[in-house]
Amino acid sequence: MNPTRLVVIGQGYVGLPMALRAAAAGLQVAGLDTDGAVVEALNAGRSHIDDVDDAELARGLAAGYRATQDPAVIADADVVLVCVPTPLSEDGGPDLRPVESAARAIGDHLTADTLVVLESTTYPGTTEEVFAPLVLRDRWELGTQVRIAFSPERIDPGNATYGVQNTPKVVGGLTEACTLAARDFYARFVDSVVTTKGAREAEMAKLLENTFRHVNIALVNEMVRFSRELDIDLWDAIDAAATKPFGYMAFRPGPGVGGHCIPVDPSYLSHRVRAKLGYAFRMVELAEEINTAAPLYVARRVQQALNRRRLAVNGARVLLLGVTYKPDIADLRESPAEPLADQLAAWGADVRFHDPHVPVWRRHRHDPSTARTCEPDLDTALREADIVVLLQPHREYDLARLAELSTVLLDTRGVVRGAGPAGGTDGPDPARVETL
Ligand SMILES: NC(=O)c1ccc[n+]([C@@H]2O[C@H](COP(=O)([O-])OP(=O)(O)OC[C@H]3O[C@@H](n4cnc5c(N)ncnc54)[C@H](O)[C@@H]3O)[C@@H](O)[C@H]2O)c1
Repeated sequence: MNPTRLVVIGQGYVGLPMALRAAAAGLQVAGLDTDGAVVEALNAGRSHIDDVDDAELARGLAAGYRATQDPAVIADADVVLVCVPTPLSEDGGPDLRPVESAARAIGDHLTADTLVVLESTTYPGTTEEVFAPLVLRDRWELGTQVRIAFSPERIDPGNATYGVQNTPKVVGGLTEACTLAARDFYARFVDSVVTTKGAREAEMAKLLENTFRHVNIALVNEMVRFSRELDIDLWDAIDAAATKPFGYMAFRPGPGVGGHCIPVDPSYLSHRVRAKLGYAFRMVELAEEINTAAPLYVARRVQQALNRRRLAVNGARVLLLGVTYKPDIADLRESPAEPLADQLAAWGADVRFHDPHVPVWRRHRHDPSTARTCEPDLDTALREADIVVLLQPHREYDLARLAELSTVLLDTRGVVRGAGPAGGTDGPDPARVETL
């Protein structure tokens, strides 16, 4: 039997690992992307994604994987996966233009007996109402000639334990035959496949997962503010609560949420509820309000810490450590470091940064005047800063050393507690290390 011919549309954080996993499982894979530079780099063996190193890409290329800009490859495909971006539009709803243009490209080149799966995160109803009509165009019969399903991508960038193969895959088709075809396809290279009643349930499962995280992060980000005023160490309380073996899952405060998913996806759902039903999804709106305010709360904590030392923010040198949206990755999208740095700069601070993953940080992607170079020597930068703010505890950071060399360290993650001075056994000096 010939190997299954797979086309993965969108070769970004989601599409590329998926394409390479499938190639490793023996499928014949083409990665379709509209970005010529991405296609060229991939075919030359250069990965632009943190979680895919060049060696893995080289193995994929050796197994037959190729990137292309030519949508005509769809005509030869048995299966087409769509992993294009779904950003927010100006009105706060999902911008479905990439999904629609991918669906049109599929419709232009589709042949009979193809399975088409949308993986991009979007609101419930998109696969049926927006995607399928552009693919089918009244030319194909759904469920018999062409099968269409939704399967949310659950990739967690930087997660060394869970990848494409061992993260259970949820699939929901537009008909039962569509669900079964998608299930059988993914079962070839994913350990566990879970089916839902239909595509809407699979779409909703993804938004439920991300809304759950958003709301729970907001919960602790709100609690941390009054805990401080009540003289309660919230991190200690969370550690205690986390010993309960059932009914509790620990979330910890931080400088705010970031990345392509958590700050964005729940808005798809609230937008859909409001547009379709006319009322608000209040939990999401509240979580957004709290998490959006988190970086500004950190800025105020910087101001207070400097004030206690008779220093003004204006003119103070502030060193931000870790400006990506989470530890151990290079992704800067929606990072809370951006609004924090903006606020501190607006108050007149001399904002510097250090991040082992970011040689040059352009705070506003489209504004070159906001570009800054990573401090070349961490120890010197720590010693010379009036205050150091730990945002992302990348594994390269020696926490005890950060505490030892900083004049004042604001630890937004609560991770420096318990990390004693290098070589010593005591905790950090509480007069110099503060938490939120
Ligand atoms: N990054 C994550 O951690 C993550 C996790 C789960 C789900 N998702 C979801 O997966 C989807 C893809 O996200 P991503 O992070 O991989 O995006 P990305 O920006 O990293 O990559 C998307 C790629 O698609 C290409 N593209 C855009 N429009 C195209 C088109 N019409 N045809 C072909 N290629 C096109 C772009 O050039 C880009 O290379 C989104 O819906 C996102 O919400 C992302």
